[in-house]
Amino acid sequence: MAGCKDSNESMEALTDRVFTLAKTQYTILAQGLPDDKTPRTVDEAGKLVTADIGWWCSGFFPGNLWLTYEYTADEKIKELAIQQTHKLDSLIVKTKTDHDIGFQLNCSFGNALRLTGDNQWSAMLQEGAKVLAARFSPITGTIRSWNHDGGGKWEFPVIIDNMMNLELLMRFGDDSLKQIALTHARTTIKNHFRPDGTSYHLVDYDPETGAVRLKQTVQGLSDESAWARGNAWGLYGYTMMYEFSKEADMLSKAEDIARTLLPKLPEDGIPFWDFDSPDIPNDLRDASAGAIMASALIKLSTLTADSGLKGQCLKVAEQQLRTLASPEYLAAPGELCGFLLKHSVGHKLAGSEVDVPLTYADYYFLEALLRFRSVNK
Ligand code: GLY
Repeated sequence: MAGCKDSNESMEALTDRVFTLAKTQYTILAQGLPDDKTPRTVDEAGKLVTADIGWWCSGFFPGNLWLTYEYTADEKIKELAIQQTHKLDSLIVKTKTDHDIGFQLNCSFGNALRLTGDNQWSAMLQEGAKVLAARFSPITGTIRSWNHDGGGKWEFPVIIDNMMNLELLMRFGDDSLKQIALTHARTTIKNHFRPDGTSYHLVDYDPETGAVRLKQTVQGLSDESAWARGNAWGLYGYTMMYEFSKEADMLSKAEDIARTLLPKLPEDGIPFWDFDSPDIPNDLRDASAGAIMASALIKLSTLTADSGLKGQCLKVAEQQLRTLASPEYLAAPGELCGFLLKHSVGHKLAGSEVDVPLTYADYYFLEALLRFRSVNK
């Protein structure tokens, strides 16, 4: 099977191998970073590309360190995790500009709080949840994803990715913030999905009436195609919303998405960057979408009452993790400036981050390995 180096390796051994590598890689990556920057990717010349702390991905590298600490209990990794998390201290003041405050804070401060129990991390999370909830409109029934108007195209854009940011509200918001998250998720069920079960990337709303103005893609192949990462965000988002709310519609939607996506995967489990690419099987895979799916499928396997689906979720997730842990996807020690995974796709048609390492591919890969371990204990 493509990408599967040693199917006899136990998942325990594989997990141990990946987290041992993560310790080495992230020590290298942290050393290469200027004080006020977060890692973004690696360029064609093999050089580290960084971003400002306002970049939507700035929570993932601290999160990767926290997850590595969770597995290894290595105090040096914890020190790095604390250092990289503190880089985001000024985030709310500097960048109250979009929904990604959810990713940014939940993966960094959220893991810091979960793993240390230290309340020094709480205030930022609670403040961030309020900032995110302030983007909600009771007229559209959604949180606005981006402030910009896409060059005059949008009035109130909401992307499927926004489902992920609801976790900040469910974890750290009061009841009124949790209701906002649930309303957003219910509205998204109504407007973001096609009859075939796949999702649109962006739905734009009329902020005066709440009517849907248009449905389109930003990062996918076309408006009607199924962009792999967007669909993976939806799978993860509804699984997470059911975990926190126990609202039946959230679980049904997560199950529907899983049943829609699973048959679209190639044998090794890693999706092509857009499920509808006419160039399949000769197009690029997106490791990030594979990692997000794996993490979501493992969680869904613990929540669904459908035993057939449960088994399928676990089987596919294991395959995805085995493929990602193979040399085709996983860096050798010292490679990739300290990232773990190769072959992710940020925005293919814009020529941005194409077939590269990305911090969030690493994040959901590590999270999925930890989840797999916990369901198999
Ligand atoms: N949320 C942006 C992306 O998935 O690329």
